[in-house]
Amino acid sequence: MPTTKASIMNQLNRNFARLKPVGIREFDAQASAVPGIVKLTLGEPDFNVPDAMKQAAIDSITSNDSHYAPAVGTAKLRAAIADFLKDRYQLDYDPNGEIAVTIGATEGIYAALSALINPGDEILVATPTFPLYMAVTTMLGGQPVEIDTSDHDFVLTPDQLKETIAAHPRAKALILNYPSNPTGVTYSAQQVEELAMAVKNTDLVVIADEIYSELVYDGQHTSIAKFIPEQTLILNGASKSHAMTGYRIGFIAGPRELMGPVSAVSGMMITSATDSAMAAATAAFGTEAGKAATQQMKAAYQERRDFLVAALTKLGFETATPNGAFYLFAKIPASAGNDDVAFATKLAEEGRVAVIPGSYFGAGGQGYLRLSYATSMDNLKTAVARIADFLKED
Ligand SMILES: Cc1ncc(COP(=O)(O)O)c(C=O)c1O
Repeated sequence: MPTTKASIMNQLNRNFARLKPVGIREFDAQASAVPGIVKLTLGEPDFNVPDAMKQAAIDSITSNDSHYAPAVGTAKLRAAIADFLKDRYQLDYDPNGEIAVTIGATEGIYAALSALINPGDEILVATPTFPLYMAVTTMLGGQPVEIDTSDHDFVLTPDQLKETIAAHPRAKALILNYPSNPTGVTYSAQQVEELAMAVKNTDLVVIADEIYSELVYDGQHTSIAKFIPEQTLILNGASKSHAMTGYRIGFIAGPRELMGPVSAVSGMMITSATDSAMAAATAAFGTEAGKAATQQMKAAYQERRDFLVAALTKLGFETATPNGAFYLFAKIPASAGNDDVAFATKLAEEGRVAVIPGSYFGAGGQGYLRLSYATSMDNLKTAVARIADFLKED
């Protein structure tokens, strides 16, 4: 096996050295080594891909659908996405020029930020949040500016945003993710509109990661693009709504002029997404079966959420208002201290329950734990019983 010539390691992109360690996967891997551990760590659905989507992928393969697709994705999938955005969120996007298919929302994040960032550019990020935004911004030579939302039930307020914009007048973009990973918190239509109004008179591009938009439990999801489409890039995809994480299909929608450069960067990275996965995503976004599958999964998540919130509250945890996604962000009971990494490590090793320390998600996450309820009710019940025992012994 080759070993790298040592001096070559000095030639790397300097931005690697600026990256902060993320830790989620490492923590999960360490915890997985504990025999019999129950894991509430994973940010992916525990359901299988619905049958109609599987069949669409199979049909695509058997019909030799095996050639390069357009860089922005197949026309059928873009049309299905346009219909989905219209039907679910009353948004109007032209499948020709205003929608691009990506390799998961992950690649969409990279493409959107690549199209915007010059070295040193600031990107505003409401935290705690999915750490990839900070990592990609840093990797592209930009500077993430974290806006800690923990004092406002993890919702970015217009005043906070205005203050941040005043302090960082040259920032290029605002990244918002709701429903939120890691908090499960989402924004009401009014909160979204107020934020949009705070952005409207600026040149900020809002990168709205709405990957959990189909998993809102009480009320409706409102996209910020409804109010400021001229400066919003929506990111979404099939990973969470249709349990299709491994199919790697996401999309970006935005105004034509902005989508030109974003799609160009995406094309440079991927050429195109995989044909069979796009066929499956067309079934996900474009058929009644796709819609019904999401509704079924959502009902199961909602039942689990209700169980877990009630059980954790009984045990003395306060949780952020969990109205969406499949996460709870729980404050460690005061009697157990404020060190989330130490608490989560001990809970994994001694209590045999794995959760993710809140501080891994940026400013405002200290003293919290992220619990994913994308796992069976049996696992959740076992986890709660073990957490109760662990707190008694601690
Ligand atoms: C907020 C958020 N955005 C994006 C992603 C990545 O999604 P995808 O599988 O579509 O790349 C995740 C995955 O956990 C996420 O939590």
